Amino acid sequence: EVLNLLKDLQLTDDNLKQYMKLLMTDIRKGLARATHPTSIVKCYPTYIQDLPTGRETGKYLALDLGGTNFRVLVIELEKNHFEMTSRTFVIPQDKMVGSGKDLFDHVAACLHVFIKEQKLEQECLPLGFTYSFPLVQEALNKGIIERWTKGFKCDDVLGRDVVQLLQDSLVRRGIQKNVKIQAVINDTAGTLMSCAWKSPYCRIGLIVGTGTNACYVEKLTNAEMFNGPNKGSGVVLINCEWGAFGDDGTLNFIRTPEDIQIDETSINPGKQIHEKMISGMYMGELVRLLILRCVKARLLFGGRDSVDLNQKDKFQTKYVSEIEAQKPGNHDRCKAILENLGMQNLSDQDLQNVRFICECVSRRAAHMCAAGLSTLIKKTEEKRITIGIDGSVYRHHPYFHYLMMEKMKVLVKPGVVFDLMLSEDGSGRGAALTAASASSSIY
Ligand code: BG6
Ligand code: GLC
Repeated sequence: EVLNLLKDLQLTDDNLKQYMKLLMTDIRKGLARATHPTSIVKCYPTYIQDLPTGRETGKYLALDLGGTNFRVLVIELEKNHFEMTSRTFVIPQDKMVGSGKDLFDHVAACLHVFIKEQKLEQECLPLGFTYSFPLVQEALNKGIIERWTKGFKCDDVLGRDVVQLLQDSLVRRGIQKNVKIQAVINDTAGTLMSCAWKSPYCRIGLIVGTGTNACYVEKLTNAEMFNGPNKGSGVVLINCEWGAFGDDGTLNFIRTPEDIQIDETSINPGKQIHEKMISGMYMGELVRLLILRCVKARLLFGGRDSVDLNQKDKFQTKYVSEIEAQKPGNHDRCKAILENLGMQNLSDQDLQNVRFICECVSRRAAHMCAAGLSTLIKKTEEKRITIGIDGSVYRHHPYFHYLMMEKMKVLVKPGVVFDLMLSEDGSGRGAALTAASASSSIY
């Protein structure tokens, strides 16, 4: 019966094909000058026109802001080899939703600590800034903040250049002599660059982490919004910002009441609808709300609930991976998690059902990502393609990779060869590689 009650989470192949058509339409709108101002999937051109050659060398700093962790890195690139040291810093909650100045001052303060620790005070290093939020790029080292996502909200700096904001903070901190900000890139772009350094067929970068987004290599002739210099490669990397897909109601045909509730109680209602159906920031909460749906229908826990189960975000996304990682029939972890949330006297059927709810949510997310990637593969017209992927959901969920592969085999045109590659080292190396190409670039 629980199976029936959760039918609306099970997307059919027809649903996914419909989704692909809609996404393709929105991507084309994003790319086109005529429709761009009103487009939902923005398809921002980055200023990256060259994929790594493997010949990049030099020492670089990198910042990685916008995922679960804020990281500062120093990376030394040598031919086909690199060394990387990094440190994770915490971004306090009040800085995530305060003034932009406070946030970037904090970033600069962490960078300062790192520079001292690594004894880099006597150097001036190029820096690549992975900034994982929507940005209207005007140059490789200039980008206008369009919106905040994933729990960040420093709205006083909307419309401002993120590189200038960071530069101002470096000056206030007195470390401007140590750093030259060369490039600002999205994490999807960082992931693509990082994987392309290893794999010659990499043309798409995907993140399924706190948020979700993808970028891909597009022909310059299709990228109408790009108005930078043509460097000769004939292509440019497009940051889709597909998290916003559905913000105009396009995805209503597959949204559930719980998706609507998640959106309405978020700090950015009406925004990032696609992201809210897929990514790690919302996955655990979706499971919690669906548990409550089953409880209300008296199909779970004999209709009982607990104080904790009724509290927002109490069911963490990592629980989904932990529960599904157990062998079928083994419910130890599931039981412990539910007991911790104040539930007692759990039957085997209850535990089995909670696992099923987790599976419905993660499977839907994986299938939507699979349909999204299949759309991008089609758009690139490549016959052989590697997709670089990063993010905590993809990394930690036991089957996400397989669920995506399985569905892509159905959705991708026969004859096209694809593979999914985990970005082992995060997007820091991608930022360094981009900074490297900027340092040697003519503009
Ligand atoms: C990291 C990348 O590994 O993954 C980041 O270095 C990226 O750039 C992040 O934002 C995404 O995953 P999550 O789960 O941390 O949001
Ligand atoms: C959000 C951001 C996007 C980022 C993604 C993954 O969707 O808007 O820029 O790439 O999260 O971190």
